[in-house]
Amino acid sequence: MTLLTTLALACATSSPPAAGGDPVNLDTPAWKLATRHPDRPAIVAHRGASLVAPENTLAAYRKAIELGATAAETDLRLTRDRHVVILHDDTLDRTTTGAGALEAHTWAALEGVDAGSWFGEAFAGEPIPDLDGLLDTAGDALVLCLEIKDGVAIEQEIRAALDAKGRRAQAVIFSFDADKVALSRLAMPDVPAVYLLRPRETGALDEAGAPVKGLVPVMLEEARAIDASAIGMSQHYVDAGLIRAAHDAGYPVFVWTVDEPEALPPLLEAGVDVLITDAPDTISAALDALLTTP
Ligand code: G3P
Ligand code: CA
Repeated sequence: MTLLTTLALACATSSPPAAGGDPVNLDTPAWKLATRHPDRPAIVAHRGASLVAPENTLAAYRKAIELGATAAETDLRLTRDRHVVILHDDTLDRTTTGAGALEAHTWAALEGVDAGSWFGEAFAGEPIPDLDGLLDTAGDALVLCLEIKDGVAIEQEIRAALDAKGRRAQAVIFSFDADKVALSRLAMPDVPAVYLLRPRETGALDEAGAPVKGLVPVMLEEARAIDASAIGMSQHYVDAGLIRAAHDAGYPVFVWTVDEPEALPPLLEAGVDVLITDAPDTISAALDALLTTP
């Protein structure tokens, strides 16, 4: 844990309990998503409906709603003038007609940059959205999982954007960065935060994907120390023992990016709670079929 996290936690004497969060808020759409789903995993549209529309554009979120999604994930970064925008990479190159580091651009300078045509001419002219635009497009149709990308200090800007529209009840924070999870929980105790893990890189799972004795509890202790509400990991790291340990510690488990119906049976067997997918309609239909087949 870094010094920043330690300091933040030292100030958090009145922070609500981890793993399940503040019971007062359990009725909000965001807390419902971040709660265990033992009967049927919840579905989150990854970067919008990104299999059929350009990732992280308003078209992708409109499409997610059209396909019946009730939650979507997005990636948040800051421009040079600290405007919160939706973009996965730290540069404009892969998914837009722009070039170079996002943080070198002002929000005004992004006007006219096309974030859709790389995906298909039908999407030419799709702008890089900002968080305000995403909140407006989502309306009350989508819970929004807002991933703070590594190294971006953005909690205060997110809080301001959510509060300006009274939308905290619809937001879930995601981050791979322990500090970001801790600081988000301090800034917005009524907004759940999912700590995204890389259990193999941190050594909690071995090369074969099996939990390394003693390290899974350490990982879950860290989640508790930063007041995470749930944990998340790639589907490639899912291990039944790890999921069981997470559940025993009170943590729902989010898993990405599950686009193939064939991947579902072992994930259901392991007990994952939330499936993050580029294809929410396909995965929802596959779940229906699996869960209704005797
Ligand atoms: O939802 C978590 C997942 O999106 C993290 O990976 O690279 O898609 O942002 P990435
Ligand atoms: Ca993401």
